[in-house]
Amino acid sequence: MIKGVPQPAFYIFKCQQSAPPGMPKPSCVSQNNPESAELFQHLAQSLMMKGIIGTVSPIQTGCLNRCQQGPVMLVEPGHTMYVGLTKEKIDRIIDEHIIGGNVVKEYVIADEMWGEPVSPSEMAR
Ligand code: FES
Repeated sequence: MIKGVPQPAFYIFKCQQSAPPGMPKPSCVSQNNPESAELFQHLAQSLMMKGIIGTVSPIQTGCLNRCQQGPVMLVEPGHTMYVGLTKEKIDRIIDEHIIGGNVVKEYVIADEMWGEPVSPSEMAR
């Protein structure tokens, strides 16, 4: 077997979208929630401190279309969408899901907001 550079075990896509001040639409990084601006840094630092940054890639991303539930992040593989994040919640997700292998169900988006995906082959014209 060829041994190459290993793939990451997980990608964690953290929504970093911020709405301009005065904009009524909620966003994952918001002036109304000062902690929200620190969550990505916290995620990356925690992964580093636990020594797993080499196999878990934190990615800053734009809007994931679940703004009402922000701050949100998506864990792949698994399509797990975590909502209403705080630093404490991120730490628990790293310990229990990323290291421990058990999804933290209390922090996962409600089923009615995260239905089964529609196959592109059904949608394509
Ligand atoms: S702003 Fe984060 S999901 Fe839309």
